[in-house]
Amino acid sequence: MQQNVSMEQLISLCKRRGFIFPGSEIYGGLANAWDFGPLGVALKNNIKRSWWQTFVEERDDIYGLDAALLMNRKVWQASGHESTFSDPLVECKNCHARVRADILLAEAELNKKGGVATLILPADPETQKELLMNEKIKCPSCDIVDWSSPKQFNLMLKTFLGPAEEEANMVYFRPETAQAIFVDFKQIVDTYAPKLPFGIAQIGKAFRNEITPGNFIFRTREFEQMEIEYFIKDSEKWNEHFEIWLKEMNGWMASIGIDMQKVHNLDVPKEELAHYSKRTVDVEFEFPFGRKELFGLAYRGDFDLQSHQKGSGQKLEYFDEETKERMVPHVIEPSMGVERMMLAILASAFREDPLEATPSEASEQEKRIWLDLPMRMAPYKAAVFPLLSNKPELVEKAQEVRKVLQGSWPGFFPVVFDKSGNIGKRYRRQDEIGTPYCFTVDFQTLEDDTITVRDRDTMKQERIAIAHARAFLEEKMKAR
Ligand code: GAP
Repeated sequence: MQQNVSMEQLISLCKRRGFIFPGSEIYGGLANAWDFGPLGVALKNNIKRSWWQTFVEERDDIYGLDAALLMNRKVWQASGHESTFSDPLVECKNCHARVRADILLAEAELNKKGGVATLILPADPETQKELLMNEKIKCPSCDIVDWSSPKQFNLMLKTFLGPAEEEANMVYFRPETAQAIFVDFKQIVDTYAPKLPFGIAQIGKAFRNEITPGNFIFRTREFEQMEIEYFIKDSEKWNEHFEIWLKEMNGWMASIGIDMQKVHNLDVPKEELAHYSKRTVDVEFEFPFGRKELFGLAYRGDFDLQSHQKGSGQKLEYFDEETKERMVPHVIEPSMGVERMMLAILASAFREDPLEATPSEASEQEKRIWLDLPMRMAPYKAAVFPLLSNKPELVEKAQEVRKVLQGSWPGFFPVVFDKSGNIGKRYRRQDEIGTPYCFTVDFQTLEDDTITVRDRDTMKQERIAIAHARAFLEEKMKAR
């Protein structure tokens, strides 16, 4: 069942239920910084755990990595980030708002044509300015058309190591996790002697001093990435690997609850490809604010390993035992942001039932809002309620049931206990955070050790024995 959701609905649900809060809020906040509350961190962990299990633990050909976030500055000089990781920044001469020229021009083209913007930004800043002025593109803040010439603005955030704030101690917060993979390529090859093709995967924080962050957690200055560099022989058919990776990523996204009808592949036009890439696909999602990049898949040739070979003076090669050839492998890179994936999951899962389809479980009539999350993404797999909160025998029994349902490591499921408000209100609360099953301990439980279980999606209830409740959850976990 597909439904469209607005950003206001999503942001309000995230704040109301403790998924995501504005960062530093008691001090007036910090622009576009977001904190993940108890349910946000649970959902984020579920996404990362599923990705790591699928692409690292269940495979023999991918090696995990967790490299230091701060790296030698030479890494970013060799990779080209210090000289070219920048966006064209223009300033409105009237109100001094600073925005990205490429985004302004692409959006203007999109409004004119509809569909997907295919404008190629001219390299020369004066031509970019001319375009902005000729197309009469208004400043988003003050509606005036009066632009400065664009300047390239480097997106890497800087800091200093040690007490002296001098150039020699300057380091960058990494703007992507990928470079550490190339830098540690030799360590993996020397330690594990993997056979090509093989990959190295990393999940971790990345920082970018974005000119125009926004759309909630879609574009922020601090975010997490999940990246794989998949190394192949230079002679191999890269296109076949590329297609396999596209399929793998789509399969994984479907399994975590992304609405695949809202996912579209945009082949980046040849003229816009980075000079080293033969093919890049931006996998886009229909977010409530428009169709935008969810993740990228790129064939990067041997550009990165060659750059670090040159930069470090070390051989970053692979020796093929069979053919006795030495080579610098080529690479396919699936690269995605955790927060963007989380936003796409929330947008895919959001449901609002019309009032007439909402049974009166709650004492007052209200619409039912619920998250249709796959069970393995749900922050809690189940909730347990005592029918009445002022009957100690029911409360005690419900706590016992909670323990039974949770189990213990390694088969532990997070199960929440809730006794506040009436049962109807508790169901609504759990629906809004996507809890698939609610178990209620009532007076009959005390007599025959049975409990009711209510299904989030159908709102149907059945009665089962406590002795079968854990197996019931395990079965459901396999199925959804
Ligand atoms: N190593 C390649 C690379 O970093 P990218 O397209 O710049 O490529 C990859 O970033 C993914 O990281 C994006 O598709 C997006 O999911 C996520 N991402 C990039 N910048 C982001 C930002 N400012 N905020 C949130 N996520 C971001």
